[in-house]
Amino acid sequence: MSSSVKVVVTGAAGQIAYSLIPRLVDGKTFGNRKVDLSLVEIPQVVNKLEGLVMELEDSYFPNMGDVSYTDNFEEASKDADWFLLVGSIPRGIVYNGKKIEERSDLLSINGGIFVDQGKAIGAHGKDDAKILVVGNPANTNALIGKDAANNNSQTWLAMTMLDSNRAKSVIAKKTNNNISDVSNMIIWGNHSPTMYPDAENVIISGQPGSSVINDMGWIESDFIPIVQQRGKAVIDARGASSATSAAKAAIDTVIACENTTKQGDSFSAAITSDGSYEVPEGLICGYPLITLDDGTIEIKRDISLSDFAKSKFKISIDELLSEREAVKHLMR
Ligand code: NAD
Ligand code: LMR
Repeated sequence: MSSSVKVVVTGAAGQIAYSLIPRLVDGKTFGNRKVDLSLVEIPQVVNKLEGLVMELEDSYFPNMGDVSYTDNFEEASKDADWFLLVGSIPRGIVYNGKKIEERSDLLSINGGIFVDQGKAIGAHGKDDAKILVVGNPANTNALIGKDAANNNSQTWLAMTMLDSNRAKSVIAKKTNNNISDVSNMIIWGNHSPTMYPDAENVIISGQPGSSVINDMGWIESDFIPIVQQRGKAVIDARGASSATSAAKAAIDTVIACENTTKQGDSFSAAITSDGSYEVPEGLICGYPLITLDDGTIEIKRDISLSDFAKSKFKISIDELLSEREAVKHLMR
Protein backbone atom coordinates (compact mmCIF):
# COMPACT_ATOMS: atom_id res chain seq x y z
CA MET A 1 0.00 0.00 0.00
CA SER A 2 1.50 3.32 -1.11
CA SER A 3 0.62 5.80 1.67
CA SER A 4 -2.02 6.64 4.19
CA VAL A 5 -4.65 9.31 4.68
CA LYS A 6 -6.26 10.38 7.94
CA VAL A 7 -9.97 11.26 7.79
CA VAL A 8 -11.99 12.84 10.61
CA VAL A 9 -15.77 12.35 10.49
CA THR A 10 -18.09 14.21 12.86
CA GLY A 11 -21.67 13.13 13.50
CA ALA A 12 -20.27 9.61 13.23
CA ALA A 13 -23.24 7.98 14.99
CA GLY A 14 -25.75 9.72 12.71
CA GLN A 15 -27.66 8.61 9.66
CA ILE A 16 -25.39 9.98 6.95
CA ALA A 17 -22.27 8.70 8.65
CA TYR A 18 -23.61 5.13 8.75
CA SER A 19 -23.63 5.08 4.93
CA LEU A 20 -20.56 7.26 4.52
CA ILE A 21 -17.93 5.72 6.78
CA PRO A 22 -17.73 2.23 5.20
CA ARG A 23 -17.23 3.82 1.78
CA LEU A 24 -14.20 5.73 3.02
CA VAL A 25 -12.34 2.48 3.59
CA ASP A 26 -13.64 0.43 0.67
CA GLY A 27 -10.55 0.97 -1.51
CA LYS A 28 -12.40 3.12 -4.05
CA THR A 29 -12.59 6.58 -2.49
CA PHE A 30 -8.88 6.89 -1.66
CA GLY A 31 -7.64 4.24 -4.07
CA ASN A 32 -4.86 2.05 -2.76
CA ARG A 33 -4.10 4.19 0.31
CA LYS A 34 -4.57 3.01 3.87
CA VAL A 35 -7.31 5.06 5.52
CA ASP A 36 -7.07 5.97 9.22
CA LEU A 37 -10.42 7.03 10.64
CA SER A 38 -11.03 9.35 13.56
CA LEU A 39 -14.73 9.35 14.41
CA VAL A 40 -16.23 12.14 16.51
CA GLU A 41 -19.49 12.42 18.39
CA ILE A 42 -20.99 14.41 21.23
CA PRO A 43 -20.39 12.96 24.73
CA GLN A 44 -24.01 11.75 25.09
CA VAL A 45 -23.70 9.24 22.23
CA VAL A 46 -19.98 8.75 21.69
CA ASN A 47 -20.05 5.26 23.21
CA LYS A 48 -22.37 4.07 20.46
CA LEU A 49 -19.38 4.33 18.16
CA GLU A 50 -17.97 1.22 19.76
CA GLY A 51 -20.66 -0.70 17.86
CA LEU A 52 -19.81 0.99 14.57
CA VAL A 53 -16.12 0.22 15.03
CA MET A 54 -17.02 -3.44 15.71
CA GLU A 55 -18.98 -3.52 12.45
CA LEU A 56 -16.13 -1.93 10.51
CA GLU A 57 -13.75 -4.56 11.88
CA ASP A 58 -16.22 -7.29 10.96
CA SER A 59 -16.56 -6.01 7.39
CA TYR A 60 -13.00 -6.89 6.28
CA PHE A 61 -11.95 -3.72 4.51
CA PRO A 62 -8.36 -4.36 3.37
CA ASN A 63 -7.66 -0.60 3.14
CA MET A 64 -8.83 0.22 6.65
CA GLY A 65 -6.07 1.52 8.91
CA ASP A 66 -6.35 2.70 12.51
CA VAL A 67 -9.86 3.50 13.69
CA SER A 68 -10.52 5.54 16.81
CA TYR A 69 -13.48 7.39 18.28
CA THR A 70 -13.73 10.30 20.67
CA ASP A 71 -15.81 13.26 21.83
CA ASN A 72 -12.67 15.42 21.78
CA PHE A 73 -12.54 17.08 18.38
CA GLU A 74 -9.21 18.79 19.02
CA GLU A 75 -7.54 15.49 19.73
CA ALA A 76 -9.16 13.91 16.66
CA SER A 77 -7.99 16.67 14.35
CA LYS A 78 -4.23 16.15 14.84
CA ASP A 79 -2.50 15.80 11.45
CA ALA A 80 -5.72 15.00 9.62
CA ASP A 81 -5.81 15.24 5.81
CA TRP A 82 -9.59 15.33 5.45
CA PHE A 83 -12.44 16.53 7.67
CA LEU A 84 -15.99 15.52 6.83
CA LEU A 85 -18.07 17.76 9.09
CA VAL A 86 -21.44 16.03 9.16
CA GLY A 87 -22.19 16.49 12.87
CA SER A 88 -25.07 18.90 13.40
CA ILE A 89 -28.82 18.88 13.76
CA PRO A 90 -30.98 18.19 10.67
CA ARG A 91 -34.23 20.00 9.85
CA GLY A 92 -37.57 18.18 9.97
CA ILE A 93 -37.27 17.56 13.73
CA VAL A 94 -38.80 19.39 16.68
CA TYR A 95 -36.14 21.36 18.58
CA ASN A 96 -36.98 23.34 21.74
CA GLY A 97 -40.69 22.93 20.93
CA LYS A 98 -40.41 24.32 17.38
CA LYS A 99 -40.40 22.30 14.15
CA ILE A 100 -37.33 23.18 12.11
CA GLU A 101 -38.63 23.92 8.63
CA GLU A 102 -35.79 25.65 6.77
CA ARG A 103 -32.05 24.99 6.73
CA SER A 104 -31.52 28.64 7.69
CA ASP A 105 -33.46 27.94 10.95
CA LEU A 106 -30.42 25.85 11.85
CA LEU A 107 -28.03 28.81 11.71
CA SER A 108 -28.23 29.65 15.39
CA ILE A 109 -28.33 25.99 16.49
CA ASN A 110 -25.48 24.59 14.42
CA GLY A 111 -23.35 27.66 13.68
CA GLY A 112 -21.63 27.60 17.07
CA ILE A 113 -20.31 24.07 16.52
CA PHE A 114 -18.11 25.32 13.72
CA VAL A 115 -16.23 27.95 15.72
CA ASP A 116 -14.43 25.46 17.98
CA GLN A 117 -14.06 22.87 15.24
CA GLY A 118 -12.63 25.52 12.88
CA LYS A 119 -10.08 26.63 15.50
CA ALA A 120 -8.94 23.05 16.05
CA ILE A 121 -8.68 22.35 12.30
CA GLY A 122 -6.63 25.49 11.69
CA ALA A 123 -4.24 24.67 14.53
CA HIS A 124 -3.97 20.87 14.29
CA GLY A 125 -5.09 19.71 10.82
CA LYS A 126 -2.49 19.36 8.06
CA ASP A 127 -1.73 22.58 6.24
CA ASP A 128 -3.06 21.10 3.00
CA ALA A 129 -6.14 19.63 4.71
CA LYS A 130 -9.47 19.64 2.89
CA ILE A 131 -12.64 20.23 4.85
CA LEU A 132 -16.08 19.33 3.52
CA VAL A 133 -19.01 20.74 5.49
CA VAL A 134 -22.16 18.65 5.12
CA GLY A 135 -24.07 19.83 8.23
CA ASN A 136 -26.62 22.53 7.48
CA PRO A 137 -26.69 25.39 6.73
CA ALA A 138 -23.58 24.06 5.01
CA ASN A 139 -22.27 27.18 3.24
CA THR A 140 -22.48 29.45 6.26
CA ASN A 141 -21.21 26.79 8.65
CA ALA A 142 -18.16 26.52 6.37
CA LEU A 143 -17.81 30.31 6.42
CA ILE A 144 -17.76 30.27 10.23
CA GLY A 145 -15.34 27.33 10.37
CA LYS A 146 -12.92 28.77 7.83
CA ASP A 147 -12.89 32.10 9.62
CA ALA A 148 -12.14 30.44 12.95
CA ALA A 149 -9.45 28.22 11.39
CA ASN A 150 -7.54 31.28 10.16
CA ASN A 151 -5.33 29.06 8.01
CA ASN A 152 -5.47 29.96 4.34
CA SER A 153 -3.51 26.97 3.13
CA GLN A 154 -6.41 24.66 4.01
CA THR A 155 -9.36 24.28 1.63
CA TRP A 156 -12.89 24.64 2.99
CA LEU A 157 -15.81 23.34 0.94
CA ALA A 158 -19.55 23.04 1.55
CA MET A 159 -21.49 20.24 -0.10
CA THR A 160 -23.66 20.95 -3.15
CA MET A 161 -22.86 17.64 -4.88
CA LEU A 162 -26.17 16.16 -3.72
CA ASP A 163 -28.03 18.98 -5.48
CA SER A 164 -25.89 18.40 -8.57
CA ASN A 165 -26.60 14.65 -8.54
CA ARG A 166 -30.32 15.31 -8.08
CA ALA A 167 -30.29 17.78 -10.97
CA LYS A 168 -28.46 15.31 -13.24
CA SER A 169 -31.10 12.71 -12.49
CA VAL A 170 -33.98 15.07 -13.39
CA ILE A 171 -32.22 16.16 -16.63
CA ALA A 172 -31.45 12.56 -17.63
CA LYS A 173 -35.12 11.60 -17.23
CA LYS A 174 -36.37 14.67 -19.11
CA THR A 175 -34.02 14.10 -22.07
CA ASN A 176 -34.19 10.27 -22.12
CA ASN A 177 -30.49 9.96 -21.44
CA ASN A 178 -28.55 7.84 -19.01
CA ILE A 179 -27.41 9.78 -15.94
CA SER A 180 -23.79 9.06 -16.91
CA ASP A 181 -24.33 11.12 -20.10
CA VAL A 182 -24.98 14.25 -18.01
CA SER A 183 -21.95 16.27 -16.81
CA ASN A 184 -20.95 19.81 -15.75
CA MET A 185 -24.06 20.16 -13.59
CA ILE A 186 -23.31 23.39 -11.76
CA ILE A 187 -25.10 24.48 -8.60
CA TRP A 188 -24.57 28.21 -8.18
CA GLY A 189 -24.97 29.84 -4.75
CA ASN A 190 -26.29 28.42 -1.51
CA HIS A 191 -27.31 24.86 -0.56
CA SER A 192 -30.83 26.12 0.10
CA PRO A 193 -34.08 26.73 -1.80
CA THR A 194 -32.41 29.72 -3.51
CA MET A 195 -29.71 27.59 -5.21
CA TYR A 196 -29.53 27.94 -8.98
CA PRO A 197 -29.07 24.59 -10.75
CA ASP A 198 -27.76 25.50 -14.22
CA ALA A 199 -29.66 23.66 -16.98
CA GLU A 200 -28.19 25.92 -19.68
CA ASN A 201 -24.51 25.01 -19.11
CA VAL A 202 -25.04 21.35 -18.27
CA ILE A 203 -23.59 18.97 -20.89
CA ILE A 204 -25.90 16.22 -22.14
CA SER A 205 -24.24 13.63 -24.37
CA GLY A 206 -21.67 16.23 -25.40
CA GLN A 207 -24.19 19.02 -26.13
CA PRO A 208 -25.02 22.05 -23.96
CA GLY A 209 -28.33 21.90 -22.10
CA SER A 210 -29.34 25.22 -23.70
CA SER A 211 -29.57 23.51 -27.10
CA VAL A 212 -30.81 20.06 -25.96
CA ILE A 213 -33.60 21.10 -23.58
CA ASN A 214 -34.87 24.17 -25.41
CA ASP A 215 -37.78 24.64 -23.01
CA MET A 216 -37.29 27.59 -20.65
CA GLY A 217 -40.83 27.12 -19.30
CA TRP A 218 -39.91 23.64 -18.04
CA ILE A 219 -36.55 24.85 -16.66
CA GLU A 220 -38.14 27.69 -14.71
CA SER A 221 -41.38 26.07 -13.53
CA ASP A 222 -40.37 22.42 -13.11
CA PHE A 223 -36.65 21.73 -13.10
CA ILE A 224 -35.41 24.51 -10.81
CA PRO A 225 -38.11 24.14 -8.09
CA ILE A 226 -37.83 20.33 -8.13
CA VAL A 227 -34.09 20.50 -7.45
CA GLN A 228 -34.40 23.35 -4.94
CA GLN A 229 -37.09 21.50 -2.95
CA ARG A 230 -35.84 17.93 -3.28
CA GLY A 231 -34.40 17.89 0.25
CA LYS A 232 -37.82 18.81 1.67
CA ALA A 233 -39.57 16.26 -0.56
CA VAL A 234 -37.34 13.51 0.85
CA ILE A 235 -37.96 14.68 4.43
CA ASP A 236 -41.73 14.66 3.81
CA ALA A 237 -41.62 11.17 2.27
CA ARG A 238 -39.12 9.57 4.64
CA GLY A 239 -39.69 11.43 7.87
CA ALA A 240 -35.95 12.09 8.00
CA SER A 241 -33.51 13.96 5.82
CA SER A 242 -31.61 12.38 2.95
CA ALA A 243 -28.92 10.09 4.23
CA THR A 244 -27.67 7.51 1.76
CA SER A 245 -27.74 9.99 -1.14
CA ALA A 246 -25.99 12.59 1.02
CA ALA A 247 -23.29 10.05 1.92
CA LYS A 248 -22.83 9.16 -1.77
CA ALA A 249 -22.54 12.87 -2.61
CA ALA A 250 -19.90 13.38 0.08
CA ILE A 251 -17.91 10.47 -1.35
CA ASP A 252 -18.32 11.88 -4.88
CA THR A 253 -16.95 15.21 -3.62
CA VAL A 254 -13.91 13.59 -2.00
CA ILE A 255 -13.20 11.59 -5.18
CA ALA A 256 -13.56 14.75 -7.31
CA CYS A 257 -11.05 16.55 -5.05
CA GLU A 258 -8.60 13.65 -4.97
CA ASN A 259 -8.37 13.22 -8.74
CA THR A 260 -7.44 15.63 -11.55
CA THR A 261 -10.61 16.85 -13.27
CA LYS A 262 -10.93 15.72 -16.88
CA GLN A 263 -10.40 18.44 -19.49
CA GLY A 264 -13.64 20.39 -20.00
CA ASP A 265 -15.39 18.86 -16.99
CA SER A 266 -16.17 20.38 -13.58
CA PHE A 267 -17.74 19.32 -10.29
CA SER A 268 -20.03 21.12 -7.87
CA ALA A 269 -19.17 22.33 -4.40
CA ALA A 270 -19.20 25.62 -2.57
CA ILE A 271 -15.80 27.26 -1.99
CA THR A 272 -14.52 30.64 -0.83
CA SER A 273 -15.26 33.31 -3.42
CA ASP A 274 -12.31 35.25 -4.79
CA GLY A 275 -14.74 37.60 -6.52
CA SER A 276 -15.30 35.26 -9.50
CA TYR A 277 -18.66 35.71 -11.23
CA GLU A 278 -19.17 38.93 -9.23
CA VAL A 279 -19.72 37.10 -5.95
CA PRO A 280 -18.52 39.17 -2.96
CA GLU A 281 -15.15 37.92 -1.78
CA GLY A 282 -15.10 35.56 1.17
CA LEU A 283 -18.59 34.06 0.81
CA ILE A 284 -18.68 30.26 0.57
CA CYS A 285 -20.54 29.98 -2.70
CA GLY A 286 -21.54 27.11 -4.99
CA TYR A 287 -19.36 27.19 -8.13
CA PRO A 288 -18.12 24.87 -10.88
CA LEU A 289 -14.76 23.56 -9.62
CA ILE A 290 -11.77 21.76 -11.07
CA THR A 291 -8.98 19.83 -9.37
CA LEU A 292 -5.51 20.44 -10.82
CA ASP A 293 -2.70 17.85 -11.08
CA ASP A 294 -1.11 19.11 -7.85
CA GLY A 295 -4.39 18.67 -5.91
CA THR A 296 -5.27 22.38 -5.87
CA ILE A 297 -8.96 23.12 -6.28
CA GLU A 298 -9.91 26.06 -8.46
CA ILE A 299 -13.04 27.79 -9.64
CA LYS A 300 -13.69 27.16 -13.34
CA ARG A 301 -13.89 30.65 -14.77
CA ASP A 302 -14.99 30.31 -18.38
CA ILE A 303 -18.72 29.63 -17.95
CA SER A 304 -21.03 32.18 -19.46
CA LEU A 305 -24.21 33.02 -17.60
CA SER A 306 -27.38 34.23 -19.33
CA ASP A 307 -29.31 37.19 -17.92
CA PHE A 308 -31.85 34.66 -16.60
CA ALA A 309 -29.07 32.75 -14.81
CA LYS A 310 -27.54 35.92 -13.38
CA SER A 311 -30.88 37.06 -11.94
CA LYS A 312 -31.46 33.66 -10.27
CA PHE A 313 -27.86 33.44 -9.00
CA LYS A 314 -28.14 36.91 -7.47
CA ILE A 315 -31.04 35.78 -5.25
CA SER A 316 -28.82 33.10 -3.74
CA ILE A 317 -25.83 35.45 -3.34
CA ASP A 318 -28.08 37.89 -1.48
CA GLU A 319 -29.19 35.08 0.82
CA LEU A 320 -25.57 34.15 1.55
CA LEU A 321 -24.87 37.79 2.40
CA SER A 322 -27.80 37.89 4.82
CA GLU A 323 -26.67 34.61 6.43
CA ARG A 324 -23.18 36.09 6.86
CA GLU A 325 -24.74 39.11 8.53
CA ALA A 326 -26.73 36.84 10.88
CA VAL A 327 -23.60 35.02 12.11
CA LYS A 328 -21.17 37.91 12.26
CA HIS A 329 -21.08 37.63 16.07
CA LEU A 330 -19.48 34.18 15.59
CA MET A 331 -16.70 35.50 13.38
CA ARG A 332 -13.38 37.17 14.12
P1 NAD B 1 -28.36 12.83 12.34
O1 NAD B 1 -29.17 13.58 13.36
O2 NAD B 1 -28.73 11.42 12.01
O3 NAD B 1 -26.83 12.81 12.79
C1 NAD B 1 -26.15 13.94 13.19
C2 NAD B 1 -25.16 13.51 14.24
O4 NAD B 1 -24.33 14.64 14.53
C3 NAD B 1 -25.80 13.08 15.55
O5 NAD B 1 -25.38 11.75 15.87
C4 NAD B 1 -25.28 14.10 16.57
O6 NAD B 1 -25.05 13.53 17.85
C5 NAD B 1 -23.99 14.53 15.91
N1 NAD B 1 -23.47 15.83 16.37
C6 NAD B 1 -24.18 16.94 16.72
N2 NAD B 1 -23.34 17.89 17.13
C7 NAD B 1 -22.08 17.42 17.02
C8 NAD B 1 -20.80 17.92 17.30
N3 NAD B 1 -20.63 19.16 17.81
N4 NAD B 1 -19.71 17.14 17.07
C9 NAD B 1 -19.87 15.91 16.60
N5 NAD B 1 -21.07 15.34 16.32
C10 NAD B 1 -22.16 16.09 16.53
O7 NAD B 1 -28.32 13.77 11.04
P2 NAD B 1 -27.89 13.37 9.56
O8 NAD B 1 -29.11 12.91 8.82
O9 NAD B 1 -26.69 12.50 9.59
O10 NAD B 1 -27.56 14.82 8.98
C11 NAD B 1 -26.47 15.56 9.47
C12 NAD B 1 -26.45 16.96 8.89
O11 NAD B 1 -26.27 16.91 7.47
C13 NAD B 1 -27.75 17.76 9.11
O12 NAD B 1 -27.41 19.10 9.42
C14 NAD B 1 -28.42 17.69 7.75
O13 NAD B 1 -29.29 18.77 7.54
C15 NAD B 1 -27.21 17.78 6.85
N6 NAD B 1 -27.39 17.36 5.45
C16 NAD B 1 -26.74 18.09 4.51
C17 NAD B 1 -26.85 17.73 3.18
C18 NAD B 1 -26.15 18.52 2.10
O14 NAD B 1 -26.40 18.25 0.92
N7 NAD B 1 -25.28 19.47 2.40
C19 NAD B 1 -27.61 16.61 2.82
C20 NAD B 1 -28.26 15.88 3.82
C21 NAD B 1 -28.15 16.27 5.15
C1 LMR C 1 -30.88 17.90 1.69
O1 LMR C 1 -30.76 18.68 0.75
O2 LMR C 1 -31.40 16.78 1.56
C2 LMR C 1 -30.32 18.28 3.04
O3 LMR C 1 -29.81 19.59 3.02
C3 LMR C 1 -31.28 18.05 4.14
C4 LMR C 1 -32.38 19.08 4.13
O4 LMR C 1 -32.66 19.66 5.18
O5 LMR C 1 -32.99 19.27 3.07
